[in-house]
This record gives sequence, structure tokens and C-alpha cells, in this order.
Amino acid sequence: MEKEKKILYSGMQATGTLTIGNYLGALKNWVDLCEEYECFYGVMDLHSLTVRQEPAQFRKTAKNLYALYVAAGLDPQKNCIYYQSHVPAHAQLCWILNCFTYMGELNRMTQFKDKAARHEDNVNAGLYTYPVLMAADILLYQADMVPVGADQKQHLEICRDIAQRFNNLYGEVFTIPEPYLGKAGAKIMSLQDPQKKMSKSDENVNATIYLLDDRDTIIRKCKRAVTDSDTVVRYGEDKPGISNLMDIYGSITGKTAKEIEAEFDGRGYGEFKMAVGETVADELTPLQKRYEDLLKDKEYLAQCIRENDAKAAHAAQKTLRKVQKKIGLTESL
Ligand code: TYM
Repeated sequence: MEKEKKILYSGMQATGTLTIGNYLGALKNWVDLCEEYECFYGVMDLHSLTVRQEPAQFRKTAKNLYALYVAAGLDPQKNCIYYQSHVPAHAQLCWILNCFTYMGELNRMTQFKDKAARHEDNVNAGLYTYPVLMAADILLYQADMVPVGADQKQHLEICRDIAQRFNNLYGEVFTIPEPYLGKAGAKIMSLQDPQKKMSKSDENVNATIYLLDDRDTIIRKCKRAVTDSDTVVRYGEDKPGISNLMDIYGSITGKTAKEIEAEFDGRGYGEFKMAVGETVADELTPLQKRYEDLLKDKEYLAQCIRENDAKAAHAAQKTLRKVQKKIGLTESL
């Protein structure tokens, strides 16, 4: 039987505070696409364990992430927003897929190499098999489409390879998912070093706009953003700082680079940076207000989590059982 709507799957790690990179690269696209697809969004708390977490803070971070998804505009009555760790099928399918993934493939993952170099004291096996858990997340829900930022593209490719390998051996078990990358926001760069991706964990707080930064902070960070010594607002490889600000501005306003260049023709960097700051602040203020309100309504969030955990578990179990049968694992009698 044809599915009524295609399936969309995505998620974020429950660590730190979301940045405007997470928002423009992923969350905003999720909201734009959510009516068109049947959507599953995970609070990826198992992925967060590759870095040591302080338990009380971790619980809070995961709940705050759930509230941010909702505050950004994902309706938990229409979208299945759930906790990854509440659905055991993720870990179960991950183990099976580990046995269908080659070390040679995992050795090529640039994110593993980057993270291993940055955390030399804790290069654990979870960090290494991180992409396999991510493949399990996606394949359990038979996702057609996975909206992510550009840094996740390689993980989507390995997911597709694992799924294809499994299907070649056992028939059409998994849907092969397509990545979805937005036009302008797929890779938001640091405001202080536009050669580097904007990241939650940057030591320089001026490099990152956090979703919960207040208006003044956002404007100040935009004003201080590193740019070149020219004054012309133009998009180009030779102007990474300005191009990054144009990406931020463009992905919120929907304007193309050409339109932005025309808008700021002859107006200089100062005015442009101010406009970017105000646009970001205007976009985030209502989200922040909804977020504060949601955190006050503990029972509402708890009920959404309960209902959606059950819905996710039901969908995931169907695929897991299919996989187990195909490979010859028996059910408990
Ligand atoms: P995480 O939490 O690292 O990132 C969440 C999403 O934000 C995007 N992103 C960015 N986009 C543009 N510019 C940036 N500077 C920027 N920084 C982050 C990421 O590309 C991502 O889309 N491994 C995933 C979490 C995950 C997942 C999944 C995603 C686990 N299982 C299954 C999709 C499907 C991750 O990177 O999260």
C-alpha cells in the first residue's frame, strides 16, 4: 500500500544550547517541511553520551531541547517528537547494523577524525560507531527524507550504503533516505573565524549566536563579526565573513544573495551588520517567549513525551521485527 505522506526523520544531540547554525541548518527547515511529511524528530540523548555528561544537567538539557523543538513551531500533536533513549529499538538495530558496517567505512568519517583529535582523552567506541546509531535512527522509521546541515551529509551517505547493503542481501527492508539541505543555511560559520563551522562548544562566546541569546547580545555579536577591510556587501569566496552574514540574513528573510547585494548597495558594513542582528533577534524573540511559557507547563510537555514515545516505539518496532526475522533472530516464546 502507498504511504499517504512521505516520512521525514531528523534529530539533534542533547548537549549544550542550540545555535543559530542548528536553527538555520536544520530546525527551521523541519518547521517549513512539517506539514508536507509525516515527521519524526528525536531528542538524540544516546548520541550525547559519546561525551561525558553530568546527569542532572543532562536531564535538563534534553528536556530543554524538546521544548525548543516545540517553541520553534513543531506541533507535538502533529509531529512525533520523542526521546531516542525511550525507544530501545534504536540500540537494538544499531547492534545489528554494526555487524553490516565495515571499519574501513567508519575510518573515513571526517567528523570522527575531527572529534577524536579534539577529545584525545576520550576516543571511545561510541564516537566511532556514532554514524551506525544514526543510520539505525533513520532506517527504523523508513524515512524518505532527512533534513540536516552540510556537516551531516557524510553520515547520510554511510546510512544509505548500509541500507543498500542490507537490502541487497535480504530484499527491500529499508527505504533509502535522501538528505535535505537548505539553500542558504546549510553551513553557518563562526562569526569570529568564518573558515570554521559555528559550533555550540566554541570557546569564544562571540563566535556563536545561541538561540536563547537576548536581543542586545545578538546585535552586539553581529556587529563584532569578523569581516574584511572592504565596505561592499557582496557574496564571494574572497569574502567569507560577509558571505556568512548574508547566508544568515538570506535564510531568515528568504532573499537571494543578489537581492541582498542590491538592498545594501552603497550602505556599508555597519548598516548591514545591524540589519542582520535585528533580523536574527526578531526571528528568535517569539521563539524564546514560547520556550519560556512551555517550560512552565511541565504536565503538557510530559504528556507529549509520553504519547510520542509510544508512537515512535510502535513504528520502530515494526521495522526492527522485520529485520530480526530476515536475519533469522527468533522471538522470545
Ligand atoms: P547535532 O546536534 O550536531 O546537529 C544538529 C543539526 O544542526 C546542524 N548544524 C548546522 N547546520 C548549519 N550550520 C552549522 N554551523 C551547524 N551546526 C550544526 C547539523 O547538521 C544537524 O542537522 N548527528 C546529528 C544528530 C542525529 C541525527 C540522527 C540527525 C542523530 N541521529 C538521525 C538526523 C537523523 C547531529 O549532528 O546533531
